[in-house]
Amino acid sequence: MTYKKVPSIESDAFGTVAVLYGGLSAERDISLQSGNAVLQALQAKSVHAIGVDVDKNIISRLQEINPDRVFIALHGVGGEDGKVQGMLDWLGIPYTGSDHASSSLAMNKLRTKQIWTAVGLPTPKYQVLTAESDWSAVMDSLQYQVFVKPVNEGSSLGMSFVNRTDELEAAYKKAAEHDHTVIAEQRVEGKEFTVSVLNGQALPPIQLKTDHVFYDYDAKYISEDTQYLCPCGLTKEKVEELQSIALRAFHALGCKGWGRIDFMQDQDEQFYLLEANTVPGMTSHSLVPMAAKNVGLDFEDLVLEILTGSVGG
Ligand SMILES: Nc1ncnc2c1ncn2[C@@H]1O[C@H](COP(=O)(O)OP(=O)(O)O)[C@@H](O)[C@H]1O
Ligand SMILES: [Mg+2]
Repeated sequence: MTYKKVPSIESDAFGTVAVLYGGLSAERDISLQSGNAVLQALQAKSVHAIGVDVDKNIISRLQEINPDRVFIALHGVGGEDGKVQGMLDWLGIPYTGSDHASSSLAMNKLRTKQIWTAVGLPTPKYQVLTAESDWSAVMDSLQYQVFVKPVNEGSSLGMSFVNRTDELEAAYKKAAEHDHTVIAEQRVEGKEFTVSVLNGQALPPIQLKTDHVFYDYDAKYISEDTQYLCPCGLTKEKVEELQSIALRAFHALGCKGWGRIDFMQDQDEQFYLLEANTVPGMTSHSLVPMAAKNVGLDFEDLVLEILTGSVGG
């Protein structure tokens, strides 16, 4: 599998690059790790890069630094959801990744599923939950295998797996602490895959294997037992099918630059889209860097590819 690099640019042609990280979301800690790794990589490539921990003073900080472009390494609400992107558009500063509209669509798991469904892409069956939901009717329609999710959160925060009707209301309340909209999604039992997208191309899929009930916060960031397979173990035809769905899913939301699409595969080998991440993790152990390595891009090369992708866009 190959990746075609975008035409390279001299390091100083990027000018001053502000790397935005940290922020105010529940994923702040991961973003600090991603941002620091990105900052180090840019500096190692002789790019004039400055790290900025984002808080309410972000606009005056940016006016002070006056960057030529921004590398967004913020995860979750406030950074991955279009707000920072809209602010940067307003200030006229180019940035990496998706614009404000596609970022905010991709951040919302319900809107994302509605768009994918509208364009004929496969995503698991779901229902929107409210405090008045008929819990047993929901469990019945989703086959008693249900993931409850706040629609605007990441890193598996506020999510639960439920297989008994009497657990559903508590799971709803837990998710509702994170967000005003909560969905119940039918479980797809089988293998889990993720596909990274870089400058219009799908990178090799990674299969994720965890002993946990699902790929939860601990399995993502703490556990040593989570296994990542790349090559992912699928046939060439299935890899192509998965990559093609990933690219269609990415473009249906209007996403740009880079990102990562999460999937499940059922027992009949059908793929189902779970969600799109427009600013995926960028620590040295993260999934996009792992996929990039498989096509010969080391972490520093990858960071530079993402930054170069933001030029002219
Ligand atoms: N419908 C589903 N069927 C099977 N597993 C799921 C389903 N939804 C979520 N999961 C599991 O939960 C994890 C996190 O869900 P995801 O929708 O990707 O949210 P997050 O934004 O928290 O990553 C997935 O990586 C997967 O392991
Ligand atoms: Mg996910």
